[in-house]
Amino acid sequence: MTTYRNPLRDPRDRRLPRIAGPCSIVLFGVTGDLSRRKVMPAIYDLANRGLLPPGFSLVGFARRDWSDQDFAQVVHDSVREHARTEFREEVWQQLAEGLRFVPGTFDDDAAFRHLRRTVDELDEERGTDGNHAFYLAIPPGSFGDVVGQLARHGLADGGAGSWRRVVVEKPFGHDQESARRLDATLAEVFPAESVFRIDHYLGKETVQNILAIRFANAMFEPLWNARYVDHVQITMAEDGGIGGRAGYYDGIGAARDVIQNHLLQLLALVAMEEPVSFDADSLRSEKEKLLRSVSLPERLDLTTARGQYAEGWAGGRKVPGFLEEDGVAEDSTTETYAAVTLHVDNRRWAGVPFYLRTGKRLGRRVTEVAVVLKSAPHHPFGAQSVEELTQNAVVIRVQPDEGMTVRFGSKVPGTTMEIRDVNMDFAYGGSFTESSPEAYERLVLDVLLGDPPLFPRHEEVDLSWQILDPVLEHWAREGAPEPYPAGTWGPPSADAVLARAGHTWRRP
Ligand code: BG6
Repeated sequence: MTTYRNPLRDPRDRRLPRIAGPCSIVLFGVTGDLSRRKVMPAIYDLANRGLLPPGFSLVGFARRDWSDQDFAQVVHDSVREHARTEFREEVWQQLAEGLRFVPGTFDDDAAFRHLRRTVDELDEERGTDGNHAFYLAIPPGSFGDVVGQLARHGLADGGAGSWRRVVVEKPFGHDQESARRLDATLAEVFPAESVFRIDHYLGKETVQNILAIRFANAMFEPLWNARYVDHVQITMAEDGGIGGRAGYYDGIGAARDVIQNHLLQLLALVAMEEPVSFDADSLRSEKEKLLRSVSLPERLDLTTARGQYAEGWAGGRKVPGFLEEDGVAEDSTTETYAAVTLHVDNRRWAGVPFYLRTGKRLGRRVTEVAVVLKSAPHHPFGAQSVEELTQNAVVIRVQPDEGMTVRFGSKVPGTTMEIRDVNMDFAYGGSFTESSPEAYERLVLDVLLGDPPLFPRHEEVDLSWQILDPVLEHWAREGAPEPYPAGTWGPPSADAVLARAGHTWRRP
């Protein structure tokens, strides 16, 4: 017998609006930058888009002598300053009714008893139904204390018919060993499926679009292999410095901050095989398989580079070097620029170098993936005709100018056969009228829906450290990184890495 399924009600139909069911978020670290700039505004944007349930509640927890009203003012200010969507008084009022604040420190049992009472009251008064996400926007050194308290006060398990989830942000450790310890800490209290690790790059529309470009089309995938691809460049460049984040950044550096997570995730999406489906297990298994096949060249001295920005220029004004930034140790050897060469040891990618680079205070803010193709095997036009022709490339522009460029050669109009590079562009703004949601909107909503594909599993984190640890150890033996003036494209040694292989970095 076949059962009739109303296509409009098919729960597998991802076009249906995805609205979270009854729930709350308990936010630890409400005074931090992440909460203020990203998490709180994203919650408002979701409310504004009608994607949160009417009784949705947000509980702040921090060492501050605040009332609920004080907390509401903090959320209000963050929303006014950073939300993507317009401010609407009625949306704000409804959200504000569900704001609560619990003052306390992570070792304060009374504060966690207070939190327990607050959460129980929300279930009663606002119908949150025992569904609560604990968002740890705090340094990882405190994860253990907080999850331990949640367990002791009966907050980590809501009982049958409800859910409890924990959301954590990077850094997931500072090497493979510490990442494993961190994971074990979380695993003592929360089962793997309740742990949501945020890598905000996966929440970006343009990053998810890598999968659409590759697997929804016939025209790219046939080229996507060692037969046609010469090399791949993955760049995340920032023009800003470390801002007020010296406390976090000094001692961490560019490779741990960005390559271990964002850039290796981009690599995985660009290079992995087609998953059986886009459910969490299939997607994450393919990413893991790819990361497992990544290897480093033998000579790390010739294939990696790191730098530290010195005084220079940004946006027309003079800016200090990293060592002069507030809070940075004057003899710091932390790198603010990092570049690595990786290989993917499988049939598809044998012999194709993947170059990953990131840096602060570079010439421009841009993130892109450039798949550079081999030259045509033969040019029938004569050497002079193709003097200005470089290699074809498919460039996925992650930000800020979201879209994609295909670069190829075209005849210059005129009486001679002269061939030059031209670009064919797709820009989000030109093709879609809706603006893209912020990464955090998507990720916070997915947490509340319990939809895990965009959250890396521990295995991915573990493999990423396995790739990076030997590079970090190599650099630790090398001493100070090479300085580069702010506003330039990094240290000369990074250019030398590519030059050795006959390649050059793109100047986006
Ligand atoms: C964060 C890093 O993960 O990403 C920051 O810790 C960096 O150092 C930021 O500035 C960049 O994010 P985005 O989305 O602006 O590219």
